[in-house]
Amino acid sequence: RPRVLSGIQPTADSFHLGNYLGAIRQWVPFQDSHDAFYMVVDLHAITVPQDPKQLRERTRISAAELLAAGLDADRCTLFVQSHVPEHAQLAWVMNCMTGFGEAARMTQFKDKSAKQGTDRTTVGLFTYPVLQVADILLYQADAVPVGEDQRQHVELTRDIAQRFNSTFGETFTVPKPFIVKETAKIVDLQDPTIKMSKSASTPKGIVNLLDDPKTSAKKIRSAVTDTGTEVRFDEVEKPGVSNLLTIHSALSGTSIAALEERFAGRGYGDLKKEVAEVLVEFVTPFQQRVRGYLDDPAELDAVLARGADKARAVASRTLAETYDRVGFLPPV
Ligand code: TYM
Repeated sequence: RPRVLSGIQPTADSFHLGNYLGAIRQWVPFQDSHDAFYMVVDLHAITVPQDPKQLRERTRISAAELLAAGLDADRCTLFVQSHVPEHAQLAWVMNCMTGFGEAARMTQFKDKSAKQGTDRTTVGLFTYPVLQVADILLYQADAVPVGEDQRQHVELTRDIAQRFNSTFGETFTVPKPFIVKETAKIVDLQDPTIKMSKSASTPKGIVNLLDDPKTSAKKIRSAVTDTGTEVRFDEVEKPGVSNLLTIHSALSGTSIAALEERFAGRGYGDLKKEVAEVLVEFVTPFQQRVRGYLDDPAELDAVLARGADKARAVASRTLAETYDRVGFLPPV
């Protein structure tokens, strides 16, 4: 079976709607068609300061959210990145395959480091994309389901895989990004010119999956819409309305065209009200499932331990082959 791999950072109290619609939702069906590896990337999380106790809690909550979103530890490999030491080990080799200028061109690094200033920016943040390269190549992934903002990191992975293969001989599968156009970039509810994000969005601009559903419904109802009155999908002229249509369509399974027809002659207020309802219908049972998983942390940890074992079986093989290719003397 072809392989997929993806990851998500445990850097907030909850995943947001962009994470879910842009990435996690796509992970679920891959469990049946692919050999699927999904992880909570705690090594990536510490590229910016984290409180240790909070990081541990958020890692568990993240795993619970992934299960609640439809991942099934019997049909995929679900694990925590730091449980598989091969990620850090392969990352070192990949650091030595990456040009300094090449890493310096990564736009997420440029944005984040510009905001923090060079003195507060860690070397870890600089080399973050290279760790992601190692994540993907360790599992010989064919496809990487992510949102649009991760495209550049997957392209970097392709470049480095090709470079390694041509230097040392065929070793790595060259992966493709899997990005669903419709939901690749969910935008901020208050500022539709930026993506919904834990770091850049204001509280009113972001819908967290674990927020009180009433709060989230209110945020949808007070979302910024556009001039005009017609409910129509048009990302240039009507980015706010288009975002709401996208959210509705993805959660309800109704096509955008059918929604445009349904709201013909009705105003933005009607659309917002219905999107809020659809959202509440989704998050309410989701939150119940998350609570269920968190009620039994020992079982959750056991699920993650089994996932780490399965992941290591694959990762250790790739690392051993890589070490051999680059000429490391095997220990006897
Ligand atoms: P992270 O944790 O920032 O985001 C997780 C996933 O959510 C997607 N996403 C969005 N999609 C649509 N609209 C949005 N507004 C939105 N915001 C976030 C992201 O594209 C991502 O797919 N570097 C990765 C984590 C990672 C990884 C990997 C991913 C580490 N190793 C290996 C794939 C493969 C990240 O920071 O995602």
